[in-house]
Amino acid sequence: MIKTALTRWFDLDVPVFGAPMAGVAGGELARAVSLGGGLGMIGVGSETPAEWIVEQGRIPAEADVSHGVGLMAWALELRPELLAAAIATEPVLVSVSFGDPEPFVGPLHDAGIAVATAVNSLADLDRAQTAGADVIVVQGTEAGGHTGQRATLPLLQEVLAATDRPVLAAGGVATGAGLAAVLVAGAAGAWIGTPFLSCPEATNSAAARELIRHAGGDRTVLTSAFDIAQGLPWPARWPGRALVNDFTETWHGREAELRGDTRAAEQVRRARADGDLANAPVYAGESVGLVTVEESATDVVRRLAADARTALEKAPRLLG
Ligand SMILES: Cc1cc2nc3c(=O)[nH]c(=O)nc-3n(C[C@H](O)[C@H](O)[C@H](O)COP(=O)(O)O)c2cc1C
Repeated sequence: MIKTALTRWFDLDVPVFGAPMAGVAGGELARAVSLGGGLGMIGVGSETPAEWIVEQGRIPAEADVSHGVGLMAWALELRPELLAAAIATEPVLVSVSFGDPEPFVGPLHDAGIAVATAVNSLADLDRAQTAGADVIVVQGTEAGGHTGQRATLPLLQEVLAATDRPVLAAGGVATGAGLAAVLVAGAAGAWIGTPFLSCPEATNSAAARELIRHAGGDRTVLTSAFDIAQGLPWPARWPGRALVNDFTETWHGREAELRGDTRAAEQVRRARADGDLANAPVYAGESVGLVTVEESATDVVRRLAADARTALEKAPRLLG
């Protein structure tokens, strides 16, 4: 067992939070992460049906384990019903990221649910604290999916110096040694996404999981090309980190031309429907090169915990 403020708060064996990942993290992945001793989060995208959230929330509940739900602030402004659906699943934690969490903190606290929010800058931290967020997720640009421009480690150190609230490190933590590193830096745990992209409990396709296992960490790109092509109203300050593929090779850096290009829009729509991974987004972080085998999420969490423990046990030797 590794104890931190957040393992005590949420009664966890391992300071690992399975990051919410729209299109990948449903109830099965959340359950598997929680069974490993961490806290699994269900990822809700801007187009996720509200009923799906309720259905998925039953899966961890049936196994008698806790879960969290991850929402996006800009999507909640357009679809407030997603908040009620998330609350109905009785999660212990809800994250509201990518926008101002303030309007959603009150209703979540009234329902007895703790609130996390991802921050990508120090200005975001101010906003998160003013909003009353309980848990701060420092999300570095190394992270898979939509993220900011600052790197995890320097932002983590700055945030830790500026807040007393519990902080999770997100972006690039993919080994037990990496987990140990952020704990020693002062984080209360890690918010981990990419290492779960090859798990059988994920809702991505088997072909996507195979691609992840063969992808190298040098081959990701932070791009708005997919959002612009699909006409998604993602705020420009959060591009998405995805595997380099034919679509990003063609369009990344040519976003102005992409706007209103109906052929490109149709190409991405069809690629997503057909599972054409050369043209659909495959969001993944820089740690993707460390993901090489298919492994259950429960085992991933247990391995991270055991290896972090070994790393922490070795650390005192550094003192000579
Ligand atoms: C495929 C994918 C989908 C994601 N979807 C969401 C999401 O719906 N909501 C959210 O808050 N973060 C989302 N993220 C970001 C993660 O919550 C997290 O910050 C990130 O995965 C952590 O970095 P790592 O990928 O290096 O582990 C997503 C990440 C990935 C890889």
